[in-house]
Amino acid sequence: MSALRRVAVLTSGGDAPGMNPAIRAVVRASESRGLLVYGIEDGYSGLLDARFRPLTSKDVAGLTSRAGSILGCAREPRMTQDHFQQRALDVMAEQRMDCLIVIGGSGSQQGAFALSRRGAPVIGIPSTIDNDLPYTDTSLGVDTAINTAVSCVDMIKDTMTSHRRIAVVQVMGRGSGYLAEQVALATGAEVVIVPERPMEKLDALRDLAYQRMVEHHERHMLIIVAEGATSPTSAQIVTYLSSLGFAVREEVLGHLQRGGKPTATDRILGARLGAAAVDAAERGDVGKYLTVRGNELVLEPYEHVACSQVKVSAETLDLIARLG
Ligand code: F6P
Repeated sequence: MSALRRVAVLTSGGDAPGMNPAIRAVVRASESRGLLVYGIEDGYSGLLDARFRPLTSKDVAGLTSRAGSILGCAREPRMTQDHFQQRALDVMAEQRMDCLIVIGGSGSQQGAFALSRRGAPVIGIPSTIDNDLPYTDTSLGVDTAINTAVSCVDMIKDTMTSHRRIAVVQVMGRGSGYLAEQVALATGAEVVIVPERPMEKLDALRDLAYQRMVEHHERHMLIIVAEGATSPTSAQIVTYLSSLGFAVREEVLGHLQRGGKPTATDRILGARLGAAAVDAAERGDVGKYLTVRGNELVLEPYEHVACSQVKVSAETLDLIARLG
């Protein structure tokens, strides 16, 4: 017989489409097993301040199609400090939270790892559009963010083509170029710039632009740049190509990539991950975060969340260059 009675759930860091479907699944899977669920508000901030509320099936109705998080998200720098990690543990004990499910990305799972090292029963659900968590193929929000960015880039291409312009589109991803790489391949970009593969010299861009826009009389050129790229940045590319006389426009997609209805893929993943987290909690299989390997969900020890893993592949980058 499991001693599990009360499950707490929080969403932390940057929000990602798929968080709400995961919250729904945590609540409904728990209820089906007779467990009580508490939703912690605003990530770790709400945990430190003991701000939480009971969640029932009714509270999570209609969440499959909603981006964002009904619980609120926050980045909480205090969680890196011993004192506040202990405070989080104390709140969990005082409120008799038997298991904490943390839905979030890298920083959030590092916070969960810190709590787990101190003995807190924690389970992680990977959720970040950056797709920078180790040992997992993907995370909640990645598929939606890619699809949203692709729709935007398609529209940008339409108008660039009318005006014979070069579009430099910056996509999110923090230090990871994964989103940029996928969007570039999906939109047929001529060039992609990611932090994982800096560009040695800007001359290569000049040559490509001349070849495409002047010699071949193409009507547009598309350059996708990851926000974490520094060599060069999207602003440097715009300045450089403009100085050579090309008509260039810069578009920063920004936070719109975190909104919009979650795709079916993210809804399904949210449902599976939420239910799997509750199953793991029931088994007492804590101190781990869920990962996606192919079509399988695999629990990974929290120690591994501290590793880094590059998801941008040289093969894909080469393919973009070959097809562009
Ligand atoms: O981690 C997700 C993410 O959207 C990154 O891609 C981006 O760098 C960052 O969050 C933006 O953070 P904020 O919403 O706090 O400005």
